[in-house]
Amino acid sequence: MPAAADPSHHLGSVQWPLPLQDPTAGDLSGPPLRLGVMASGRGSNFEALVRACRRGELQAEVVQLVVNVPDCPARGRAERLEVPCTCLDHRRYSDRTCLDEDLIALFRRRSVQLVVMAGWMRIVTPRLVEAFAGRLINIHPSLLPAFRGMDAVGQALRAGVRLSGCTVHRVTAEVDAGEILVQAAVPVLDGDSAVSLAARIQEQEHRILPLGVQLAGERLPRDPGPGPIQG
Ligand code: GRF
Repeated sequence: MPAAADPSHHLGSVQWPLPLQDPTAGDLSGPPLRLGVMASGRGSNFEALVRACRRGELQAEVVQLVVNVPDCPARGRAERLEVPCTCLDHRRYSDRTCLDEDLIALFRRRSVQLVVMAGWMRIVTPRLVEAFAGRLINIHPSLLPAFRGMDAVGQALRAGVRLSGCTVHRVTAEVDAGEILVQAAVPVLDGDSAVSLAARIQEQEHRILPLGVQLAGERLPRDPGPGPIQG
């Protein structure tokens, strides 16, 4: 494909960008879904999600950000966006389960109904996965099941694929292996570096993350409304 090609020309009758409201799915009606977000770095997906909620594109509200790196840029975004942010510095924990226990306690205190891992660069334990069974989703910069784990963009470039992308999926005990909720494909262009490809993938992440939240949220029990998660 030539470097200047516009991928939307190759989509035929497929609607692109994806509609945020999937007409085949049920409504996210009722009070806004209370979202908790976990991030370790830039936090651009966190911000995209907050902005989508505030534009009214989905019936949800980010009520809590958790970061694990004290000086990460995501923290500054939370401050600017006036979203409560707590730092749970992983270096202060003796093991992963203790960190996850504090995450669980915090999200329960904030009555979080769905947890979004948006660039959380730590492996989570079965304790967190079980506490939020069906309520924990992740965004990953590849078309899963290809290129799981770290450096997915570099893996794609080294493999020489011509098509990569991003995936929003449910989190299970196995890394990057849970049910796929939504994906976007991104062409790998001649001369792409990890930086240029990652930037194009991120544009699509910001589009599909709200849709992934919408799809995950529609399948949650909505009554009796927000309240501490049992389990
Ligand atoms: C994203 O590319 C996401 O797919 C991966 O980590 C990155 C986070 O980016 N899991 P940001 O912090 O949201 O900007």
